Amino acid sequence: MTLTLSARRLDLAALETPLLVVPCGPGASLPPALGAVDSALGGALTRIIDRRDFRGARDEVLHLAGAARGPARVLLVGLGAGADRHTALRRAAALAARRAHGLGVGSLTWYAGAVTAADVEQIGVGLALGCWEYTDLKTPPPADERRAPLTAATIHVDDAAPGAAGVAAATAIAAGYELARRLAMMPGNLCTPDYLVETARDLGRRHSIEVAVLGRREMEALRMGAFLSVAQGTPQDPKLIVLEYRGTVPTAKPIALVGKGLCFDSGGISIKPAAGMEFMKFDMCGAAGVLGAVEAIARLRLPINVIGAIGATTNMPSGTAVNPGDVVRAASGKWIEVINTDAEGRLVLADVLDYARRFEPTAIVDAATLTGACVVALGHVATGVFGNDEALVSELLAAGERSGERGWRLPVWDDYQEAIKSDVADIKNTGGRPAGAITAARFLKEFVGDTPWVHLDIAGTAYSETDLVATPKGPTGVPVGMFVEFARGRVR
Ligand code: BES
Ligand code: MN
Ligand code: ZN
Repeated sequence: MTLTLSARRLDLAALETPLLVVPCGPGASLPPALGAVDSALGGALTRIIDRRDFRGARDEVLHLAGAARGPARVLLVGLGAGADRHTALRRAAALAARRAHGLGVGSLTWYAGAVTAADVEQIGVGLALGCWEYTDLKTPPPADERRAPLTAATIHVDDAAPGAAGVAAATAIAAGYELARRLAMMPGNLCTPDYLVETARDLGRRHSIEVAVLGRREMEALRMGAFLSVAQGTPQDPKLIVLEYRGTVPTAKPIALVGKGLCFDSGGISIKPAAGMEFMKFDMCGAAGVLGAVEAIARLRLPINVIGAIGATTNMPSGTAVNPGDVVRAASGKWIEVINTDAEGRLVLADVLDYARRFEPTAIVDAATLTGACVVALGHVATGVFGNDEALVSELLAAGERSGERGWRLPVWDDYQEAIKSDVADIKNTGGRPAGAITAARFLKEFVGDTPWVHLDIAGTAYSETDLVATPKGPTGVPVGMFVEFARGRVR
């Protein structure tokens, strides 16, 4: 169920709502505009703040019952100190929406007051993501046990114009995140390479985006031996999906967003241990991020040209699967020794990155749940950011800051090339345990030529195996925000 957002100037003295959310920072007093609401509650809100029962810390929430008239409930939610205003607003909004969704109030009102369009956007995205839940595969509980999902949120703003702009942007971006999260959460038996094709075609129809799909036969013709070596163990037809969003004149060179789309990664012949293998349905989060970003970019009607390219398949052990020691030839002509069949993402991306170059993009940014080593290095907090172009790396890091999806740069110096030298071929697909995230990035770098390129290792940030307070466990939607802000930054 998607959240319908609106922003309006409300008559707070006469406000009837199932839930009024009041964000508050440390040391802040109750906004004077809420005097009537406070009076109706016999001054409970000011007393709670004066007594310091509620202090406005990050993630602090306090839920009160309302009076007979006016808001039926009030939720104080802390903004915390430390974080910038946008991050604080988005997080508080997500937490409030999550609480509201759990309560079953159906709709809420957020008190925002004097805010910019960008503030409203952050609040809106936070609210939409906070109440997101994947229920498609669950039988609904009996009617008397059901709680109403949160389906509407009204943001109270002093000024309607920035409110409307903020809501429009938030609705577009939230749709992108929702698509990415849904695709990620879908199990591998439903979210197949074919399903990703269907999703891309649906996007294409709704936004008149051109979609082209290459299957095994077409990839054979293009001699994509790296991608195909991963797909040779699976009966499902692998797909290279290309979306062409045209937001401006056809002569303007596009940016290319590339995603790893392993609908399931068993490891192949170098099979993974059973514990936690189910999480490898999330190995298509890069692809989900590309589709989500294209959805948002199209809804925002950004005047820019964007190529989305996805390598979709599954990595399976079988009698036809690629074996450790096999040597395959990438479309670029490079010979690759496959040391470990579980390092499959870089094999798929080698050919997709190479293919993306034919669109002559000004920049290629790929996103991939590429290495466990990146999770070891940066945990679930930051996306690993690698690149061959200083300015482009800085652009992506800044886009991450603006969208609340933090990235941290790691080097891809020539010194790391040694680790992926092969005795038999041009390059091998693993460099051993040291600097595993870097040697993987270094491998990819071989396939982008001189195109400015950034690689985002989202293995730690695209999903969480535990509850993260503002985000439930499961997919986060990363890197939709970073992609969208990057594209927006290219427009300005
Ligand atoms: N999809 C995995 C990486 C991964 C691990 C993502 C954990 C999310 C959480 C990737 O295909 C993989 O298996 N990488 C190997 C590479 C190794 C064999 C060099 C890894 O990280 O162990
Ligand atoms: Mn793998
Ligand atoms: Zn993988």
